[in-house]
Amino acid sequence: MNKLVETRPTQRTQPVSVATLGQMKRDNQPIACLTAYDASFAALAERANMDLVLVGDSLGNVIHGQATTTSVSVDDIVYHTRCVAAGLSTPLLAADLPFLSFATTADAVASSRRLIGEGGASMVKVEGGAADTSIVETLAQNGVPVCAHLGLRPQQVHKTGGFKIQGRSKDAAKKLAAEARQFEAAGADLLLLECVPSPLARRIAATAKVPVIGIGAGPDVDGQILVSHDVIGLSAGKKPKFVRNFLASHDSLDEAVEAYVEAVRHRYFPSADESFDS
Ligand code: KIV
Repeated sequence: MNKLVETRPTQRTQPVSVATLGQMKRDNQPIACLTAYDASFAALAERANMDLVLVGDSLGNVIHGQATTTSVSVDDIVYHTRCVAAGLSTPLLAADLPFLSFATTADAVASSRRLIGEGGASMVKVEGGAADTSIVETLAQNGVPVCAHLGLRPQQVHKTGGFKIQGRSKDAAKKLAAEARQFEAAGADLLLLECVPSPLARRIAATAKVPVIGIGAGPDVDGQILVSHDVIGLSAGKKPKFVRNFLASHDSLDEAVEAYVEAVRHRYFPSADESFDS
């Protein structure tokens, strides 16, 4: 076993798979997810018994110090996924397809091959709009586990002009719920909702057969994900309301990350104040 994960025994004995996440949804057992970008953070997540670790293109913000994620490349994600894989043994390792790396189906296949083959990821995440379901379909048909990221899609920031709550109007809510159904039908194994009002996220999670995890999507989904630097209060700038610094009330990084996992498992996080009502 890797040295970084030796210090504390993990409770899981088997690696988490897509099937494990599906079973957790059916058992109404919330799924705890976190981003990581290097082996040390990965080992923290491992020791805390995290279910899923994502090498997010948020590394553009928290590692590269950029205002957006659009400069992140496939090389960047491959490099950081390899670093994270070195510190991880049981959580499912997902990696982001960065901006324009899945513009065509051929690009999506080539980029996914690199994330999985070179990086060691077991799942790729696509920030998808309606047009991308065919890409998800091709990846799924070729045995690539896919997480479809819906709601706020930070890669679209130059088009949308900012980071706004999605699905607020009746029409927008209808469109988002339809997108979720389309991505599930296309073969997505996991849906991720970012910045979506809690009642809409609840409805999507209740009807989806695959697990639905949220960030800024309220407590009534099948799991939560946060950016690791937010969980330990290391991110710069104004914090979104769905972020909680768990290190503020704990004495060590291990305790903080474990507290996050516990809060997710018991649905203590996010609170109503950390969610959007409408
Ligand atoms: O890139 C990322 O870290 C993400 C999370 C915010 C879910 O997509």
